Amino acid sequence: MLLAEYWRLILIVSLGAFVGFLLGDISLGMLIGMSIYLIRHLFYINKLSKWLAEPKSNVEPPEGNGIWFGIFNRIFKLQKRNKSQKVKLAAALTRFQEAASAMPDAMIILTQEGKIEWFNQAARRLLGLKAPQDIEQHISNLIRYPAFKAFVENQLDAERDMEILSPFDESLALQLRIAPYGKGKALLVARDITQVSRLEQVRRHFVANISHELRTPLTVLTGYMETLTINKKSHENPWFQPMQHMYAQTNRMQGIVKDLLLLTRLENYTESIVGAEVEVPELIEMLLEEARMLGHDKTQALTADYDSTLRIMGRREDIQSAFSNLVSNAVRYTPKGGRIHIKWFSDATGAHFIVEDSGMGISSMDIPRLTERFFRVDEARSRETGGTGLGLAIVKHVLQRHDGALSITSELGKGSQFSCNFPDTRIVISKKQVSSINNAG
Ligand SMILES: Nc1ncnc2c1ncn2[C@@H]1O[C@H](COP(=O)(O)OP(=O)(O)OP(=O)(O)O)[C@@H](O)[C@H]1O
Ligand SMILES: [Mg+2]
Repeated sequence: MLLAEYWRLILIVSLGAFVGFLLGDISLGMLIGMSIYLIRHLFYINKLSKWLAEPKSNVEPPEGNGIWFGIFNRIFKLQKRNKSQKVKLAAALTRFQEAASAMPDAMIILTQEGKIEWFNQAARRLLGLKAPQDIEQHISNLIRYPAFKAFVENQLDAERDMEILSPFDESLALQLRIAPYGKGKALLVARDITQVSRLEQVRRHFVANISHELRTPLTVLTGYMETLTINKKSHENPWFQPMQHMYAQTNRMQGIVKDLLLLTRLENYTESIVGAEVEVPELIEMLLEEARMLGHDKTQALTADYDSTLRIMGRREDIQSAFSNLVSNAVRYTPKGGRIHIKWFSDATGAHFIVEDSGMGISSMDIPRLTERFFRVDEARSRETGGTGLGLAIVKHVLQRHDGALSITSELGKGSQFSCNFPDTRIVISKKQVSSINNAG
């Protein structure tokens, strides 16, 4: 194409030179030839500019010859390709927008600073967000819970989710989750769990009522059985053995009812408790005694290593339930001759109560499920040891109410470590330390 254009230029200039030669001025002839060539290009440039300025992109390209024919055609093809890409992109965008607005969960895109960049239809319905007013607003200005602020700031911890009542409509219970993506952006998803939480409440009330109702008849039953089995003459009674079994089982039922009531109480109040100073060292002494009694036939090595000055703020009754569950588990699930070690200390992260055992251990698959109610790794064996699977659920809730958390590490066949971690805000400077400070002063 370019070669043809050279030839055209040479031809026009030579023609000009020839005419100039005939008229007696070759250079003038060549100049006129060149000018004609230039004017032709200007003519086509003008056509191109007019065509490009056309508002509709599908107007056929202007007629052109030589190199201009190629240029017009190539631009036209490029325009067509652009147009089809634009159509595809628009279709993809529409699809995404339709899907996002059909989504029952609220979706909000947050910038690195926590400002709202975009949200879908459900976010208007569930959280009352409005466009364009709420765009660019900080999310914690709109959802004003202190816990939510911490949740947003902590967004890297994407595994966790949070439950709140919608600030827009308090009858809506929402479950929030944050998924970080791209460069510092995050997607906040809010799911309507009103129905589920209502059912959950019904279940809680049901369990609470049943447990409560069972308490009195069980107390009466155990009372009678106790009298019947401790009677000296009762050994001669052929019903003595069955009676003893019945007594043991009613006792167990009483234990379950007590645990269920405790769990319900813990679940009903999710906010943390302040409580009073809990004498943990004294509690540990008591737990050791209890453990010795529980495992009297197991010849286990029971040791403890604790900071006798370390106390925490909390509810003694609940802390005792939690710690006692962990110690009794260790005794129960560690075979004869095993080792159990209790630790109580504080470090930069807070106070820790740790129970280690050299028992049967738990597979990593089961660990996340341990704190579910009624979950037992080996149902048959657990039943034998009298376990119902409520203990660790209680531990988890007690710790939650004390701003703490339970962490579990375990290896099958080697042993387990259950650790109750309390934040340092719960630690109380003990009397001993205070007195030593006073003495020093
Ligand atoms: N130290 C441990 N070593 C091995 N397995 C354990 C240990 N602690 C708990 N488990 C397993 O976890 C399960 C759940 O423990 P949890 O304390 O919740 O219930 P439980 O001891 O069976 O019954 P409960 O405590 O209500 O009397 C137990 O059944 C047991 O299988
Ligand atoms: Mg237990």
